[in-house]
Amino acid sequence: MFEQRLRPRRMRISPAMRDMVRETTLSTKDFVYPIFVVPGTNVREEIPSMPGCYHLSVENAVELAREIAALGIPSVEVFGLPEYKDEEGSSAWDMTSPVQRAIGAIKKAVPELIIVGDVCLCQYTSHGHCGHLCDHYVDNDATLALLQKVATSQAEAGADIVAPSDMMDGRVRAIREALDDKGFINTSIMSYAVKYASGYYGPFRDAADSTPSFGDRRQYQMDPANRHEALKETMLDIEEGADIIMVKPALAYLDIVREVRDAIHHPVACYNVSGEYAMVKAAAANGWIDEQRIVLETLTGMKRAGADIIITYHAIDAAKWLQG
Ligand code: PBG
Ligand code: ZN
Repeated sequence: MFEQRLRPRRMRISPAMRDMVRETTLSTKDFVYPIFVVPGTNVREEIPSMPGCYHLSVENAVELAREIAALGIPSVEVFGLPEYKDEEGSSAWDMTSPVQRAIGAIKKAVPELIIVGDVCLCQYTSHGHCGHLCDHYVDNDATLALLQKVATSQAEAGADIVAPSDMMDGRVRAIREALDDKGFINTSIMSYAVKYASGYYGPFRDAADSTPSFGDRRQYQMDPANRHEALKETMLDIEEGADIIMVKPALAYLDIVREVRDAIHHPVACYNVSGEYAMVKAAAANGWIDEQRIVLETLTGMKRAGADIIITYHAIDAAKWLQG
C-alpha cells in the first residue's frame, strides 16, 4: 500500500485544532449596518425586496441604532429618502431632511456609534442621477460643489465619516477641502473609490427610490470587466485624501478587494450590496440554503479577501450568530 506521510487533514482533526489554525476571524467589529430613514414619525415599513430591512422614521432609526450598538456593531451608514426632490437634489444638504436629523439624533443618543453619511444626489434629484444634469449628461465639475454641500451638512449634523458614492472625478479632494474649510478636520472620508455599474443595486434603488429616470450610470460608475482601473481609481482617491477605500459590490469583486488590499496601506471596506443580500434572503425563504451558514461563510470570504470593514445588511443577524 502507498505510504502516505503528508497529511493536511491532521490540522482538521478536531474543533480545537481547527480553531487553533484558523486564518481568518470574522468579528462583529468588522460591520457597518446601513439604515434607511424616511420622513414622518412612527414609520417602520419592511422593504419588500430586502426582507428584514426597514424604512424608518428618525425616532425609530434612533431606537435601532441603540440595538445595533448594544450588539457590539460599531457603525451605521445612514441613507435617506427626502421630503422633496428637485433638479439639483437640494434636499440632500437640507439640515431638516431625514438624514441630517437622523445623524444628529443618533449621535446624541448613542455617541459611541460611528456614523457614516452616504454622500450622493440620486435619492434627492428629480431625475435620479448622481449629479448635476446638463442636457442628459452628468456634469462632473458642476456636481462637485453640490457634493461639498452634502458632505459638510452631514459633518455639521454629526457624521464621523462621509462616504461619497457618486463616482465623480475629484470629489474626494473637493470634499476634503470643504470639510477643512469649515473646521471639520477630523471628519473622515470613506470613498466609494471602486464602484462598479452593477445590476446588484436593484433592490437598493427600490428602497431608496433612486432609479435614474433615463439611461444608466455607466458614464460614471465602473465597467465590471475592469481591474487595472480599480487600482487607478484607488490611487487617485488616496492622493486626493481618502481615509478609507471601498470596493463595491463585494461578492463578484473579491479579486478586486484582494488587489486593492495588497496595493495600499489604508483600511479597505467592501459593500455587500442589496442584490447580494436579496439573493440570500430569497433562497433562504425557499428553504434552499442554510441562511446562517451561508451568510457567515460569505462574510468570512470578504474578510479573507482582505476587507477590514464590511458594510452589510446581514450585520444584525450575523452579530447575533457570532455571539452564539
Ligand atoms: C447611491 C448608492 C447606491 C448604493 C449605495 N449608494 C446605488 C446606486 O449607485 O445606484 C447601492 C447599495 C446597495 O445596493 O446596497 N449612489
Ligand atoms: Zn448616487
